[in-house]
Amino acid sequence: MKTLVLYESKHGGTRKIAELIGSKIENSVVARIQNFVGRLERYDRVIVGGPLYGRRLSPVVMDYIKENKSMIDQVFVSGLLGASADEELHENFDDEFIQDKHIEFIGGSLEWKQMNYLERLRVRIGARIKKNTPTDTYDMKSIDRIAKGVY
Ligand SMILES: Cc1cc2nc3c(=O)[nH]c(=O)nc-3n(C[C@H](O)[C@H](O)[C@H](O)COP(=O)(O)O)c2cc1C
Repeated sequence: MKTLVLYESKHGGTRKIAELIGSKIENSVVARIQNFVGRLERYDRVIVGGPLYGRRLSPVVMDYIKENKSMIDQVFVSGLLGASADEELHENFDDEFIQDKHIEFIGGSLEWKQMNYLERLRVRIGARIKKNTPTDTYDMKSIDRIAKGVY
């Protein structure tokens, strides 16, 4: 059984999550969507994930999911606004898709050094998170559910 974990990551937070998921699955390959050149048909399970910015899932991930809908088994979303996770998922996907693909909201992390001035400002003012606060809010239960394929 071969599993593919595909992700997009602007600053590295979602890459960490994808690698964590991959480390928990035997015989798995983890790759950034843009770098993946193989064929999805070669894998028994395909998991795809990406980050939320301004309440929208990264367009690279959204387009990839739309194009390969039938080949994707599960989707994970990285973001920090856990309280409104459900709302955000529904802004990005329809109900049927959420149920069908077992979408998991994993949480996220802020990679301060990778963020530009405007992004740091948006996070500090919008989310009221002080500069350089370590922010790793991964939901390990969600990560385990994805890794084990438990829906
Ligand atoms: C400018 C900016 C906007 C963000 N907007 C959202 C958002 O709307 N909803 C959310 O849940 N998280 C939001 N986040 C948090 C990111 O989704 C989170 O940090 C994620 O782990 C980043 O992934 P990446 O490092 O792979 O790009 C935002 C972060 C930044 C820097």
